[in-house]
Amino acid sequence: MTELIALDQVTKRYGDTVSLDSLSLHIKEGEFFGLLGPNGAGKTTLIRIISALTVPTSGRVLVAGEPVNRNNTKFKSQIGLVPQHNNLEPELTVVENLQLHGMLYGIPKKESAGRIKELLDFTRLTDKADTQVGKLSGGMKRKLLIARALMHKPAILLLDEPTVGLDVSSRRKVWDLIKGLHKRGITIVLTTHYLEEAEALCTKIGLLKKGRLLMSGSLDELKNMVGPVVVEQFYNDKTVLYFYKDQKEALKAASSMGEGITVRQSRLEDIFVKLTEEKSE
Ligand SMILES: Nc1ncnc2c1ncn2[C@@H]1O[C@H](COP(=O)(O)OP(=O)(O)OP(=O)(O)O)[C@@H](O)[C@H]1O
Ligand SMILES: [Mg+2]
Repeated sequence: MTELIALDQVTKRYGDTVSLDSLSLHIKEGEFFGLLGPNGAGKTTLIRIISALTVPTSGRVLVAGEPVNRNNTKFKSQIGLVPQHNNLEPELTVVENLQLHGMLYGIPKKESAGRIKELLDFTRLTDKADTQVGKLSGGMKRKLLIARALMHKPAILLLDEPTVGLDVSSRRKVWDLIKGLHKRGITIVLTTHYLEEAEALCTKIGLLKKGRLLMSGSLDELKNMVGPVVVEQFYNDKTVLYFYKDQKEALKAASSMGEGITVRQSRLEDIFVKLTEEKSE
């Protein structure tokens, strides 16, 4: 598989704040990469660096072999971005927002019109085509942001918390949209605080903390690194997790622990808590 995104020893500093700390990350074509981490871990900074909206202090970034630069049209056409904060034009209609994006990306008018029709259909927004964006619900705005990011047919879609604040059913609809895109071969990088979202969608997951990638791999690889079986103990008003390599070891340990014990398979949430809370440097 071709490597589409390559970051080597990327550091980003804002004054004394180190947002990314010598981070290296390689993402292959067709992967669905989930970037997890607590508030301030550097997820948005990383997404912005890949989309050339933020310039790293040092390090090397290549997207589809091209150096990252907004003035490089070949690079720009590869990336579709759904930013963390909605930056649609609220006074314009749904169609006008998409037309504007088409113009900014130099898409011929006729092609743009056809693409808009397709994308409204795909995101089920056809009924809202002539509605002002300011009057859409949060879920509809999210879907429009995805449609807009797809206007120029990018090879890579970057989604920064695409389902934040959505109700369960709207979230599932956005998931289906994103799953459909991945199935069509688009490489996806998604940041989220919803661990079940990462579990449901991503083929690979990276855990970021204080600008460093603590761990990355498939869900099974992460579970195996930390321990696939967990013993959960509620003790002194606090839940503590212990990780084991198999059921037999976990049961043996649990047998000497007394009351308030649960033995179960480990989940992404357990790994996340262990790495982000316990292993502080
Ligand atoms: N423009 C900026 N100026 C100064 N500091 C910044 C700027 N952008 C980000 N930072 C700092 O960089 C660090 C990483 O921020 P970033 O937005 O990348 O985190 P995040 O993982 O996306 O967090 P969240 O989950 O809250 O969205 C934070 O300490 C933040 O304050
Ligand atoms: Mg963020």
